[in-house]
Amino acid sequence: MIRLDAMEILDSRGQPTLAVAARLEDGTQAWARVPSGASTGSKEALELRDGDPERFLGKGVERAVAHVLGPLQDAIAGLSPYRQEEIDRALREADGTPAKSRLGANAILGVSMAVARAAAKSRGVPLYRYWKPRGPYRLPVPLLNVINGGRHADNNLDLQEFMLVPHGFPTFRRALQAAAEIYQHLKNHLREKGLSTGVGDEGGFAPDLKSDEEALELLVAAIERAGYRPEKEVSLAIDAAASELGEKGRYRVQGEALESFGLVALYQRWSRLYPIVSLEDGLGEDDPSGWKALNQALGAQWQLVGDDLFVTQKELILWGQRENLANAVLIKPNQVGTLTETWEALEACEKAGWRAIISHRSGETEDTTIADLAVASGAGQIKTGAPARGERTAKYNRLLLIEKELGDEAVYAGPELFPR
Ligand code: PGA
Ligand code: ZN
Repeated sequence: MIRLDAMEILDSRGQPTLAVAARLEDGTQAWARVPSGASTGSKEALELRDGDPERFLGKGVERAVAHVLGPLQDAIAGLSPYRQEEIDRALREADGTPAKSRLGANAILGVSMAVARAAAKSRGVPLYRYWKPRGPYRLPVPLLNVINGGRHADNNLDLQEFMLVPHGFPTFRRALQAAAEIYQHLKNHLREKGLSTGVGDEGGFAPDLKSDEEALELLVAAIERAGYRPEKEVSLAIDAAASELGEKGRYRVQGEALESFGLVALYQRWSRLYPIVSLEDGLGEDDPSGWKALNQALGAQWQLVGDDLFVTQKELILWGQRENLANAVLIKPNQVGTLTETWEALEACEKAGWRAIISHRSGETEDTTIADLAVASGAGQIKTGAPARGERTAKYNRLLLIEKELGDEAVYAGPELFPR
């Protein structure tokens, strides 16, 4: 018998979200906490909010809490917690809609994660080992968002995320140290220039700059000031979140309204000027022909990552592979709503030789499930914000602990994924 509990808690933006607990027959109990996005793809599974203006400006999740305690509890009560696929199938069937819109993907994911966490705990193993009992284990390259823009900050940057990719190091720990040092040098540099060092939703700085390009200049300068070698040790990644740039079929970037090809041309220019290795959502989710052109222009050089385009859904990933739209996928469990479907998305990537990046959301909690998922899946990359703010460092610190625990069984993915 699995017993569920659930409650409304706060996420890193101070908005309500769900915490769900699963208690097993042997008395083991574990909690999971559900994240929440701001720049969401239109095909994501539905995040259920109460819409009651009297509470949390309509953002309460009490209905989702009630769904955990009622229909979802009933659906899985008699199942084995060690059979995740059966648990997740029962959760989906209890909901019965394609987008999990009746009971809410936030309610469903909370249960899916809580059961997995409780099952691992009752077996007496860490979560990553519960999923992958034997090594070697691949520690992911962190993609650290150190300058925030777009919907994650109130500054004038159009693009949402400017990230550090510390790949040229022997261990995760050493790579994270480099990123944390660069973050501090970036802060000092901004201060010297009289720019704001206030941060955005994911802990990256959010200054007003002359252009998005200036953000790239600042990152290269910060890498050098910290004593590291751009491209050889530390490269850059961008999440343009281009679905949010749309204006009458064009993209508004750096004061111009560009067509797809204009934006692709800008990226090509940047590919010659800056040590960029990865571009996420370079074009909008409703612009597949633009994606195709982008992939033809830069797919051989850059990792081209679909976030809003694929929303962690296997069928969309398979479509993207047939159409040659990209070469990598951002994996966010709450975009699809269960762990089993998250694993299916990862499998679709692996089968096609596409890369996968495990990801947080801009609204996060202290939950660390995605750190374990990154190690167990061997995806090789994780994107979970700046090396600052507790909800972000919770994941990085979890990975430090896993690497320490694994000792010789841990292999840092950086040099293999981004050889220089
Ligand atoms: P979100 O942002 O969680 O607000 O969607 C993260 C991303 O776009 O990758
Ligand atoms: Zn994104």
